[in-house]
Amino acid sequence: MRYANVVVLTGAGVSAESGVATFRDPGGVWARYDYREVATPEGFAANPDLVHEFYNARRAGLADVEPNAAHYALAAWERAQVDAGGAFTLVTQNVDDLHQRAGSTAILAMHGSLVRSLCGVCGDRRDCRRDLAVSDRCAACGARGAVRPDVVWFGETPYLLDEIDEAMAGADLFVSIGTSGAVYPAAGLVAQARALGVATVELNLEPSDNASLFSAARYGPASVIVPAFVDAVLNDRFDGA
Ligand code: APR
Repeated sequence: MRYANVVVLTGAGVSAESGVATFRDPGGVWARYDYREVATPEGFAANPDLVHEFYNARRAGLADVEPNAAHYALAAWERAQVDAGGAFTLVTQNVDDLHQRAGSTAILAMHGSLVRSLCGVCGDRRDCRRDLAVSDRCAACGARGAVRPDVVWFGETPYLLDEIDEAMAGADLFVSIGTSGAVYPAAGLVAQARALGVATVELNLEPSDNASLFSAARYGPASVIVPAFVDAVLNDRFDGA
């Protein structure tokens, strides 16, 4: 096993071929919605119905999509790494459930999850696969109108940052997949890896905003390049370049 401790970061590009829209590609989510209205605490306070409509549509859309070969390759890589006595951490910016449905388990979902709700009053978090509405009451504290998607909005602190730092501290391979490198702190992980002397690889449809920071790169659709890369690593055909 060449790499004892692998950290993978994924973004919306890993789910694009499953039919989940990315954010900044032409026609992407932020070309159709103003993030300030649907993905900020201020937007939720100003128009909660619009925010619920936005996330209810994305949550309902999960029923129509399936994991693709990239999701399955990452789940297989995790199993192989653990079976060989190594460590594997999948840090994802995505709030869809495709990594979970593909069998990945060592997931740090730093932007939360579409299929979980959060009460803004008591902090109660629970699985949620139904529409949310302003009229909902929190099942834990009874507060009305405070239940929201458990998704990290702009201006809020991403989840699991300590766990991510811990995984990065021991990593010897960092692979970034399907992300534009536009949003921090996720976009800062490659610089953190380089500072730690970790081999860094970008797997993306095209060079991202921080492509120059990676020591190796493969470009193309995730469903093609991710299985090929995982196969190369597991068969010791990737030498870091
Ligand atoms: N295969 C591989 N990469 C792809 C594919 C594909 N089929 N399709 C698109 N991509 C790449 C794009 O080239 C782009 O670099 O995926 C990236 C998607 O970038 P964004 O749309 O910016 O998504 P992401 O990087 O995940 O956004 C980060 O921003 O809006 C917030 O919270 C949101 O988690 C999200 C964060």
